[in-house]
Amino acid sequence: MNALKKCCYRTYQKIMYVAEYFMPWPEAETLKGSGSLMKMPEWLKSHGRKSVLIVTDSVLAGFGYSGKLADGLTEAGIKAVVYDKVVPNPTIDNIEEGLKIYKENQCDCIVALGGGSPMDCAKGIGCRVACPKKPIEKMKGTLKVGHKLPPLYAIPTTAGTGSEVTLAAVISNPAKQEKYPIEDPVVIPRYIVFDPQLTIGLPPHVTSTTGMDALTHAVEAFIGKSNTSATKKQAIEATQLVFKYLKRAFDNGQDIEAREQMQRAAWLGGKAFTRAYVGYVHAVAHALGGFYGVPHGLANAVALPYVLKKFGASAYKKLAILADAVGITGADNKEKAEKFIAAIEDLNKSMNIPNKIEGRWTIKDEDIDRLVDHAIKEANPLYPVPTIFDKEDIKELFLAVKG
Ligand SMILES: NC(=O)c1ccc[n+]([C@@H]2O[C@H](COP(=O)([O-])OP(=O)(O)OC[C@H]3O[C@@H](n4cnc5c(N)ncnc54)[C@H](O)[C@@H]3O)[C@@H](O)[C@H]2O)c1
Ligand SMILES: [Fe+2]
Repeated sequence: MNALKKCCYRTYQKIMYVAEYFMPWPEAETLKGSGSLMKMPEWLKSHGRKSVLIVTDSVLAGFGYSGKLADGLTEAGIKAVVYDKVVPNPTIDNIEEGLKIYKENQCDCIVALGGGSPMDCAKGIGCRVACPKKPIEKMKGTLKVGHKLPPLYAIPTTAGTGSEVTLAAVISNPAKQEKYPIEDPVVIPRYIVFDPQLTIGLPPHVTSTTGMDALTHAVEAFIGKSNTSATKKQAIEATQLVFKYLKRAFDNGQDIEAREQMQRAAWLGGKAFTRAYVGYVHAVAHALGGFYGVPHGLANAVALPYVLKKFGASAYKKLAILADAVGITGADNKEKAEKFIAAIEDLNKSMNIPNKIEGRWTIKDEDIDRLVDHAIKEANPLYPVPTIFDKEDIKELFLAVKG
């Protein structure tokens, strides 16, 4: 890539960095601790809510969480309707179906119960309520929503995406094999419920991959060039928590302390990247999610070590700081950075996460150029990565993760 283009990208990133100081970053009101879910009806009543749309998926509805919450709301005199058809990598159709139910029931707020998929679907529904004449596709990218959403309550049931605190909603359009983020501070939920009990039923392979998503947020935010002192602290603490608690939560899903700390890690990772951005790992993961439905956390977990290695010396100093934070020693920054990347690979391996995208998600040769186009469009010029990659670099990444 020529120097002038790189310079333009860096200038754009600097402008966004400065502009962010003037954007609103609301702090959410939170309910915390085991059993918080059932404190919600009183909470919503105290906020004067009359009609609630609960957005969730069929697995969580099957556990009875949304039903219990709806019953509690009804008892508290609040109308509750449930939309439970959100699919992993939520689609525009999910949003439109949820929107219809929201309107039919004259809802005045949205409760998102689930992982990133229900939370992002709920955000998408909120965007459509706020901008009834604008299709979701037109909100793709940065600062395209611009209107206040109805109050959004997020109840994360995975510990990974951090969507409960981020300015992003990641939406899929299967017709175009596309997956893209809508990024606008108006989508940041105003209310969050952290109930670790809700995460104890997460199967180990979802615990591991969603947890690696949290690590990816922290690492990509930290090595990028748009950090504030707060995002640096958040990213370091998130990294420490993932290294300390993810394997514990994977080994023993009932370990409530590990579950609670992973919820904190996900929240911190989300907070860090919502100001400091993600990077090429996410651009690759979103392209793979859009084309083949690869679960987001899995795609990130596989791609993270490859992307970090490809950054080479430009990321050594920051990775060495993260290495220090998790107790990895080395003679110099290079050695520490390499050992940190190796520790990520070991963590993946210890939780049976493969080092290639394979099986039913195998990348097809004929798709690679389009995958590269999607990834590069998402990442450049927005993401303030340590080194700006061009098409050939991104192609190398897809070939590296290809099984
Ligand atoms: N908005 C953001 O800032 C942001 C950030 C990162 C990722 N994302 C997006 O979030 C989505 C992924 O979210 P995710 O990784 O949380 O997964 P998910 O919401 O798709 O859930 C994964 C699976 O786990 C199940 N599940 C969820 N909670 C469970 C529980 N407590 N017990 C048992 N099963 C449970 C779900 O039913 C689903 O089958 C992707 O679309 C990704 O692009 C968004
Ligand atoms: Fe992510």
